[in-house]
Amino acid sequence: MFMLNAELNRHNSACRPYMACKSFLSKQRCLHIASGLKTNGALKFLMATFIGILLGVYIGIISTKYGYPRLFTSDTVQRPSQEIRHAKCKPPKVLFRNYSQDAELLPSKLVVPQTDLYMRRLWGKPEEDLPIQPKYLIAFTVGFDQSEIINAAISKFSENWTIVLFHYDGRESEWEQYEWAQRAIHVSAWKQSKWWFAKRFLHPDVVRPYEYIFLWDEDLGLDNFDGEKYIELVKKHDLEISQPALEHSRKLTWRMTMRRSNSEVHRETTESSGRCTDRHKPPCMGFVEIMAPVFSNAAWRCVWHLIQNDLIHGWGLDFELGRCVKPPFKKVGVVDAQWIVHRFIPSLGAQGEAVNGRAPWEGVRERCMYEWTIFHKRLTDADEAAQRENTEG
Ligand SMILES: *[C@@H]1O[C@H](CO)[C@@H](O)[C@H](O)[C@H]1NC(C)=O
Ligand SMILES: *[C@@H]1O[C@H](CO)[C@@H](O)[C@H](O)[C@H]1NC(C)=O
Repeated sequence: MFMLNAELNRHNSACRPYMACKSFLSKQRCLHIASGLKTNGALKFLMATFIGILLGVYIGIISTKYGYPRLFTSDTVQRPSQEIRHAKCKPPKVLFRNYSQDAELLPSKLVVPQTDLYMRRLWGKPEEDLPIQPKYLIAFTVGFDQSEIINAAISKFSENWTIVLFHYDGRESEWEQYEWAQRAIHVSAWKQSKWWFAKRFLHPDVVRPYEYIFLWDEDLGLDNFDGEKYIELVKKHDLEISQPALEHSRKLTWRMTMRRSNSEVHRETTESSGRCTDRHKPPCMGFVEIMAPVFSNAAWRCVWHLIQNDLIHGWGLDFELGRCVKPPFKKVGVVDAQWIVHRFIPSLGAQGEAVNGRAPWEGVRERCMYEWTIFHKRLTDADEAAQRENTEG
């Protein structure tokens, strides 16, 4: 949230070399921190922390160059000033400040580079608006026909969740009958999909305050699910991208998502033959479906960048989510102890258009498949381009 901005001044006399710094930057470029301060234990600790952050930034610059996943690349989060890298032996004054290139003309202390989805009151004092600041966000893409299922589902999420409903059927006012609908955020756009909404309304700078982001379909039964317990497990097992396991059904597409009894989480599976060319890769490892994913904030920052504006069904995304965490075989998993039921209710998928005597769902299905091939092509091209950049650079 805060970017580091080192402002360097020119008191070379006070310059004190720092080993870690030497090993990463060339000797002439050695960077020094707050040398005016007395070096008692606490200050040493502070200095070490700052150096750590600076090195982190420096390594970040290197890894960006060499094409590792870039978790923090939105427009408003800027890289630190070039000065850091070219600093000669000068003790810098180190300041934390909110830095946004778009707001260079404004005093940085006033700049607000992120926002949130907290609802406020029209009256009273702003600082008293939010007795609870929800740390988690659940977004359902809904049609009113599924309102009973959603109503039941919402009861599984405590006041620690911000509720977002993406309406694709234009019936958002009918939800008023539910008490909780008043504290939900409603976004309505005719016949748009979950990934279309997510790309537009859950920008990482909008959902910054949330530790975990749930992006779920509307046809899920949550009788055996509890939000708080789910979060506990995800934290315990350090899962950055997860989903609750699915109750057994012959209709399940992937074995990975299938619930295992006597297990808290699992991260790998075997598939029917031919499906996993590499058993360390999706869909045998590092894999969850796009039906009910849960992302850590950092993972979501990356995944948001992976979503294509025009490929609104998100097909094929699930195979690539693992790119957003390191290492995927550890950080992607399925939570068995909190599980859900997929009800297979035709919803948005049935909202296509009947053309030439074909059912509406057929056109939608066809588009899903077509999107997947486009996505695959873009990915292959992008991987090749990145490979070239790396070998050239
Ligand atoms: C940076 O912005 C955040 C809110 O986005 C604010 O709480 C914080 O005080 C700001 N920090 C500085 C140093 O301006
Ligand atoms: C909400 O979160 C707080 C802080 O983690 C926790 O103490 C509280 O029990 C949670 N609320 C519920 C209903 O679980």
